[in-house]
Amino acid sequence: MQFYLRDGYLYCEQLSVKDILERVSDTPFYLYSAAQLRENFTAYAHALAGMNARVFYALKANSNPTLLVILRELGSGATLVSGNELRMALRAGFAPGNMLFNGNGKRRDELMLAAQHGVLLNVDSEFDLEHIIQVARAVNRPLDVLLRVNPDIRPDVHPYVATGMRNSKFGIRAERLMGFLDRLKPVPLVRLVGLHCHLGSTIKDVRVFRDAAALMGDLFNAGRDRGFDVRYLNLGGGLGIDYERTGVYPTPADLIGAMRGLLPDNATLIVEPGRSIVGSAGVLICRVLGVKTNGDRHFIVTDGSMTELLRPSLYGAYHHVGFIEPIDDEVRTFDIVGPVCESADFLGKARELPTPPEGAGLVVYDAGAYGYAMSSNYNLRTRPAEYLVDGDRLLQIRRAETFDDLTLTPLSL
Ligand SMILES: Cc1ncc(COP(=O)(O)O)c(C=O)c1O
Repeated sequence: MQFYLRDGYLYCEQLSVKDILERVSDTPFYLYSAAQLRENFTAYAHALAGMNARVFYALKANSNPTLLVILRELGSGATLVSGNELRMALRAGFAPGNMLFNGNGKRRDELMLAAQHGVLLNVDSEFDLEHIIQVARAVNRPLDVLLRVNPDIRPDVHPYVATGMRNSKFGIRAERLMGFLDRLKPVPLVRLVGLHCHLGSTIKDVRVFRDAAALMGDLFNAGRDRGFDVRYLNLGGGLGIDYERTGVYPTPADLIGAMRGLLPDNATLIVEPGRSIVGSAGVLICRVLGVKTNGDRHFIVTDGSMTELLRPSLYGAYHHVGFIEPIDDEVRTFDIVGPVCESADFLGKARELPTPPEGAGLVVYDAGAYGYAMSSNYNLRTRPAEYLVDGDRLLQIRRAETFDDLTLTPLSL
């Protein structure tokens, strides 16, 4: 673990976060550990060693360009869900051949961009396929596609992060797959090269990946039997992380182990993790504005909020919360809340914590995934800065927004 406590003081790699807070001063901010990011990616690389497999990091989890460069240098590919993610991946130096563009509602300009760069495309629906065929004809070059299958597998996660169930908006139901093969047969410009599914996110029980691998392996073989040069079997991302800090959690090796024996020999496996690569590599650092009590609830009010980290408000998600240095005052049960004008604005509920003084540094752990990526300007708040620790070095890897960034629209009509 690259974020750790020593004598009650929080460290990131070789640096004390208290020292970082003194240098940076402006809170809240995100803080990442390069070593943790590398370790998390390397866990996948080791789990896949000796297999015909590729890791396509899902940019949606965190698309900070510096973190992307680190992952690209480690050999990662990129899974994208918007034209701008594609542009960001290009800027971070990913080769178009190592990118896959996903999505259930791709716009024509986004498809054109992907087609012009020769990025692999996921087909999500009948209309999506028709748009892809039109774009292939417009650019007059062959496009390689995967069909995204809706496997109807229940991953036992919050309904907002389950994506592969019967009534989900994503993918193509297996029984309709043959219709897509019929449609593709007479269209040589659109070449079917693989199949894809993604079950959801924050998955704790890797047995669902075994079910997915078995189903997708059968469909892969069916595609080949029908004469298609199907090569890629993309089983998505979705491995959860140990937000509760229990110390017991499935690893990438457990995930790959669950699927390994079920993959067809001639398949190249693609996995597209996001959270399990970047989640534990980042924390949110805030300052305490004050402490108050209403009714029978005690509140720690911080300068961090749902606009920096939406997950608790959006999914009731748990993030471990602590202080960056020892605090020796009465322990009470606190809700940790922000200044945003919403009762849903909280970072943690009912936590046993010592009563902090004003200005104390508070850390929200495991905030590297879907943290900054989901941040907003609600209440006209400015997005925070991002910093990276690499050994004993501290780098700013994104500046905080300023009021001027919020006034890009001309004020006069
Ligand atoms: C298609 C697809 N692939 C990969 C991911 C990454 O998932 P996770 O961050 O849970 O690994 C997502 C996120 O939901 C996704 O929708």
